[in-house]
Amino acid sequence: MSGNNSPGPFSPPFHFKGVKFFPAADLRAVEQVESFQVRDDDVFVSAYVKSGTTWVQQIVSLLSTEGDLSEVNKIPIVVRVPWLETMDMSGSGKPYPKLLEEAPSPRLMKTHLPYHMLPQQAREGKGKIIYCARNVKDVVVSWHKMREGFAHIPSGTFDENFQEFINPEQAVFGLWWDVVQEYWRHKDDGNMLFVKFEDLKRDLRGNVVKIANFLSKTLSDQRIDEVTANCTFSAMKNNEATNLTRAEAFKGLATKEFEFIRKGKVGDWMNSLSPEQSKILDDIHREKMAGVDLTFEFE
Ligand code: A3P
Repeated sequence: MSGNNSPGPFSPPFHFKGVKFFPAADLRAVEQVESFQVRDDDVFVSAYVKSGTTWVQQIVSLLSTEGDLSEVNKIPIVVRVPWLETMDMSGSGKPYPKLLEEAPSPRLMKTHLPYHMLPQQAREGKGKIIYCARNVKDVVVSWHKMREGFAHIPSGTFDENFQEFINPEQAVFGLWWDVVQEYWRHKDDGNMLFVKFEDLKRDLRGNVVKIANFLSKTLSDQRIDEVTANCTFSAMKNNEATNLTRAEAFKGLATKEFEFIRKGKVGDWMNSLSPEQSKILDDIHREKMAGVDLTFEFE
């Protein structure tokens, strides 16, 4: 990553339409998303934080180059699949929704916005949205680890971050249960594909094929194998274009111990959540997900 792609400076936390946002999200960008002009071949990778966003970004990127990693690696993932509700990292001072107006097609973008804050035209069916959901217990732990690991993201103790996560007014990017359920209600929309982190773990190749079909990409079996091989946990951990903390531009931002592509496991929450915290999540989950036909594997 070149020096002028260094992240920051970042805006302080802010609220927009009742939802709390953190860096690198920026109000100047968030405000422009609603009216963002969507193209038919746009692809939005959407996920709650720490739910496999980067994983799906990499799958979609590699599908766009038919598995050619050298092509994909020329540009770090944060620039190749930019985060819609942030400011340009190359120093133009423009919000991504503005900058992307001039970007060539096909445009790949990432977002952590709740469904109702997506570009209006995407909600009306234009472009394609891939939503990736992950079990809430692994999300809460992974989110804390990242806040602890990155200097630019405000963080409290694990318990403080946990309390914030379950508080509807304080939860960053919205309350997990509300956000995931809102996307789930749109899972059958013609331009939406809903995938789960745990399914990608169990059957990466099958999900690569599913995503390729959704994007109307016809790749040979060998190309699909190449995409899959380049999207495994170890491949992405050893790749500094995806494991950002190994890239030069991020060196000063993260603690020595923290790796952006960290553990990539289902059930790692067992190493961090206390029995009381686990029960609190179970109770909220039971209540919030009652009557919703969306289930998650927790281990
Ligand atoms: P952990 O912190 O539990 O390891 P996001 O991209 O939405 O921020 O999600 C990050 C999480 O996805 C991290 O989880 C990271 O390790 C995991 N991840 C990223 N790429 C992965 C891959 N190829 N296989 C498994 N997990 C992956």
